[in-house]
Amino acid sequence: MIKRRRNNLFISVFALCFVLLTGCGAGRDTTATSETDLESESMPDEDDIVIGISQVGSESDWRTTNTKAYIETFTQEKGYYLIFEDGQQKQENQVKALRKFILKGVDYIVLDPIVETGWDAVLKEAQDAGIPVIIADRNVSVEDESLYTCHVGSDFMQEGRNAGEWLAAYLESRGRGKKEINLVTLQGTLGSTAQIGRTSGFAEVMEKHANWNMLEYQSGDFTQAKAYEVMEYFLETYDDIDVVICENDNMAFGAIEAIKEAGLKLGKNGDIMILSFDAVRDALLLVQKGEIMADFECNPIIAPLVEETIQKLERGEPVEKVQHIDETYFDYRMDIETLLESREY
Ligand code: AHR
Repeated sequence: MIKRRRNNLFISVFALCFVLLTGCGAGRDTTATSETDLESESMPDEDDIVIGISQVGSESDWRTTNTKAYIETFTQEKGYYLIFEDGQQKQENQVKALRKFILKGVDYIVLDPIVETGWDAVLKEAQDAGIPVIIADRNVSVEDESLYTCHVGSDFMQEGRNAGEWLAAYLESRGRGKKEINLVTLQGTLGSTAQIGRTSGFAEVMEKHANWNMLEYQSGDFTQAKAYEVMEYFLETYDDIDVVICENDNMAFGAIEAIKEAGLKLGKNGDIMILSFDAVRDALLLVQKGEIMADFECNPIIAPLVEETIQKLERGEPVEKVQHIDETYFDYRMDIETLLESREY
C-alpha cells in the first residue's frame, strides 16, 4: 500500500456530499441545481485514499447520473475519502478547486473539465506536488501530455460519426438519400470535448453528402432552457428544417418543446427529425414515441473505470493513457421498453 501524502493543511476537510433530491427529466429545466451541498464533519482515516473530484456542474440529466456514480463508487466504507467540488459550469471554479486539492495534499485528482484548453498551469502545479490527475468524461488539450495520468471517458468524435452514419443509412432507406436535406445543430458548451467531438464527427460524415445543407450551428450550452431559446430562433429564421442535431438530451427536450409550440410535428412522418446524444432514460422514452429518431449513447457511469485506474496506480501498475468507455445507440425501431427494464440511467 502506498504511503499517504497527508498534508498538515488537511485539518478540516469539507466532504461535499451531494443529496440527489430529484431526477431531472424531459419538460423540466435542469440548469438550476437540484442538489444540496452538505458539509460533513467526517475526516479521512489514516489509510483512506483521498480523492478530489472537480465536476463541471449540474447542467444535464447525464451529469446528475455521472455525479451520483462517483459518490456511490468512492465511499468511505470502501476506503476512499471524497472531496467533491461543483464547478457550476465555470472553468475558474474548477481551477480553484484543483488548487484547493493540491493544498490539501489529496492522493488523486479527478477532473471532469468543462472545456479543453487553459489547464496547463494548474496541471503543472499538481504534477510538481506529485499528485496524479485523471481526466474524466471530457478531455484536456495541453502542450505536455505528461501533465495528466490518463483520460477516461467517451469517444465523442465516434459518437458524432455514428449519428452521421445513422442519418445517411436512414435517409437512404426512405428513398431520400439524394434529396436536399436541411439541418441545424444545437451545439454543447463551445470548446468542450463533447461539443468538439460530436460536431466534427458528424461533419466528417456530412462531407460525403453534398445534399446535406447545414443551415446554422448555435450553442445551447447543454441546457434545456438555452436550447429552447435557440430552437425558437431557428424556427423563426428557417422555414424548412428537416433535421435537428441536438448535442445532448437536455437540449433535445428544449428543442422539442419549441417545435411543438410552433405547431410542427416530430418524427418519421412529421416535419422535423431529431437526433440526440446521451440516451438518458427520459430521452429514450421519447425515442420510444418516435419524437427523437435516434439517440447516441454517452455513458455517464465512468466512476468504476476511474476506480479501476486508481487501484492499478495504487498497486504500481501501468495504466492506458486513453481509456474509452463502451457505447452504442438506440433508434425508434428498437424495443426500448425491454431495454429500459435493465438500464441504470
Ligand atoms: O461531457 C458529457 C456531456 O456533458 C453530456 O453529453 C451532456 O449531457 C453533459 O452535459
